[in-house]
Amino acid sequence: MKPSILITGASGGIGQSLVAKLADHFQIYATGRKGDRLRSFPETVRTLSGDLSSETFRAQLSEWANGVTAIIHNAGYAPNISVEETDSDFDRQVFEINAIAPLDLTRKLQSSLGQGSPGRVISISSFATHDPFPGFRAYAASKSALESLVRSLSGETDGQVIGFNVALAAVETPALRAFADEAMVPPEAALAPDAVAMAVARLLRGEFDDRSGERFLLSVSHALPD
Ligand SMILES: NC(=O)c1ccc[n+]([C@@H]2O[C@H](COP(=O)([O-])OP(=O)(O)OC[C@H]3O[C@@H](n4cnc5c(N)ncnc54)[C@H](OP(=O)(O)O)[C@@H]3O)[C@@H](O)[C@H]2O)c1
Repeated sequence: MKPSILITGASGGIGQSLVAKLADHFQIYATGRKGDRLRSFPETVRTLSGDLSSETFRAQLSEWANGVTAIIHNAGYAPNISVEETDSDFDRQVFEINAIAPLDLTRKLQSSLGQGSPGRVISISSFATHDPFPGFRAYAASKSALESLVRSLSGETDGQVIGFNVALAAVETPALRAFADEAMVPPEAALAPDAVAMAVARLLRGEFDDRSGERFLLSVSHALPD
């Protein structure tokens, strides 16, 4: 029987590549808000649409996905906005999706993950955590929180659940192009979503288990070590 994995943000650019690349080796539980995109996956992919900012949905999602031994926290909210236009409600909204939802889902599924010997949790994070750029202050801070969550897993679970942070530079998705045109980020400077999915597949195969808690940079000039 294939191991089971929960992928959040499966309706988006990178999430769709993750589902396509991992489907041969995992029973996939895919979630996102846009149900029509989730319905385009093959029938073998289990899907549940909903909003991760809702605690009620997170409870429903973790019951539905009980049995998974891996999670990819890929869903993300990356608004580009000047800080003068934001307030604490805005910050809370960004943190809810990027940090609180992963904390909550990981907690709710912790005993399920522990059956993976080890269970694996992967965050899809961003270069913004070490090289923040204007307009993404709350986003960068929330992805840093997400990375801390993932780093603490192994120590807290005595190695039963381990995690990796995958920090991305530009990846060619509609979300990237919503704020960066080709003059700002030329196509050759953006990684293909499939390259992210292939790197994540290597992490899930256990190739880097002795480096659990680490942060791996991925960009057109950064790859996982051979
Ligand atoms: N593309 C890049 O250049 C880049 C660079 C660095 C990091 N990243 C990270 O990579 C991840 C995927 O990004 P992407 O480029 O593929 O962007 P995307 O297409 O916008 O994907 C984001 C995903 O998150 C989901 N999502 C957002 N808010 C949600 C909510 N409240 N409830 C449930 N799901 C929600 C979206 O679902 P719906 O579409 O169904 O609403 C979508 O599936 C994100 O975490 C992003 O921060 C991307």
